[in-house]
Amino acid sequence: MNGDMLAIYPGSFDPLTNGHVDIIQRGSRLFDRIVVAILLNVEKAPLFTVAERVEIAREVFAGYPNVEVDTFDGLLVEYARRKGAGVIVRGLRAISDFEYEMQMALMNRHLNPDVETVFMMPAETYTYVSSRLVKEVVALGGSVTNLVPTLVEDRLREKKRGRGN
Ligand SMILES: Nc1ncnc2c1ncn2[C@@H]1O[C@H](COP(=O)(O)OP(=O)(O)OP(=O)(O)O)[C@@H](O)[C@H]1O
Ligand SMILES: [Mg+2]
Repeated sequence: MNGDMLAIYPGSFDPLTNGHVDIIQRGSRLFDRIVVAILLNVEKAPLFTVAERVEIAREVFAGYPNVEVDTFDGLLVEYARRKGAGVIVRGLRAISDFEYEMQMALMNRHLNPDVETVFMMPAETYTYVSSRLVKEVVALGGSVTNLVPTLVEDRLREKKRGRGN
């Protein structure tokens, strides 16, 4: 192992929002490398396939040499161990995120004390953005401009057309 500080940013990213992008950019400035790790098979009916989500994230972060996109399954701390990552990055939007995130962080510490969870706050403008809400707004015909990357906005529109509305 070298002395590089590698961080993992896990999530479902269905789809990637500007809140996620904000956290990834902050992480890319803080750590030597950050891996956007897309969790496999969590949602029973995701809007975007894992392959689509990987492709989107790779495209959005094409200009960031220290941002990597990967997928994982099973225990996050085991994945971190395999990758040689010492840090798990999570985003905190509001108090409502806190309880669940703290529980996860402490459980992960119990499972692997060598991995530290680091929380970051996004720009205020993204504190109300979630993938779930973005999907809901688009399904109901609203605009998510400036809340997701342009590429995601286009893909959301395509999905909506494909579903016959
Ligand atoms: N707008 C945001 N600002 C900061 N952190 C965020 C934002 N959206 C998500 N995160 C964080 O990113 C990580 C991965 O989140 P996840 O993939 O569940 O996104 P999500 O938007 O919460 O999706 P969903 O609505 O499907 O739960 C979590 O730590 C989550 O708190
Ligand atoms: Mg979430």
